[in-house]
Amino acid sequence: MAQTGVRAVKREPEATFDCMFKILIIGNSSVGKTSFLFRYADDTFSHSFVSTVGIDFKVKTVYREAKRIKLQIWDTAGQERYRTITTAYYRGAMGFILMYDITNEESFNAVQDWATQIKTHSWDNAQVILVGNKCDQETERVVTAQKGKSLAEQLGFEFFEASAKENVNVRPVFDRIVDIIMVKVSEGGGDTDPSITSGAKATRLTDTPPVLPKHCAC
Ligand code: GTP
Ligand code: MG
Repeated sequence: MAQTGVRAVKREPEATFDCMFKILIIGNSSVGKTSFLFRYADDTFSHSFVSTVGIDFKVKTVYREAKRIKLQIWDTAGQERYRTITTAYYRGAMGFILMYDITNEESFNAVQDWATQIKTHSWDNAQVILVGNKCDQETERVVTAQKGKSLAEQLGFEFFEASAKENVNVRPVFDRIVDIIMVKVSEGGGDTDPSITSGAKATRLTDTPPVLPKHCAC
């Protein structure tokens, strides 16, 4: 069953924001990318599998200290036939959530290829978090947490196991990716993207708007 083509799932009005980060979720089909995004953005989960067609996105605004950060989160189709379309969106992405399914060895074996796709199609400064999804399915597990951690270390990525279904580590993954992008940007690694600003310190994100100063440093 097909879900959508290239369209926005949810649009926010063109509100003002201080920084915008483009984040892509990639990985084999059925690992749970769409579910992960829906859990984060809408706090919903569906058991039915509606494979994504092409690419889709959601927008979420988070706050860090006095900064409004607009996250443009792109949910890519894992199916091979959409690879040309989806890799065209890698450019300009500051962060990637590279996902596999802990109950599906093939999806784990494909991680190296996905990492190569990132290297080939995105900026050098793009930050990557490896996520082993469906950790609620312990009895079906075929990829140990240690294997995931070792591969992440080898690739220079951070690592989480998560469950979109049980809402395990969904928010922490997004918090962390924003955090490491902010650190990179403050080191000057965001020069290539005019939509990204520097000087932020790493702190925890909240969904509650702070009282904003009239003139932000961004
Ligand atoms: P493509 O769009 O084809 O690339 O797949 P996808 O990676 O977006 O997968 P999707 O989110 O559509 O999920 C595939 C199936 O896995 C669905 O039936 C989901 O309900 C299920 N699923 C997703 N996340 C979890 C999870 O954390 N635990 C369990 N048990 N099932 C999950
Ligand atoms: Mg999908």
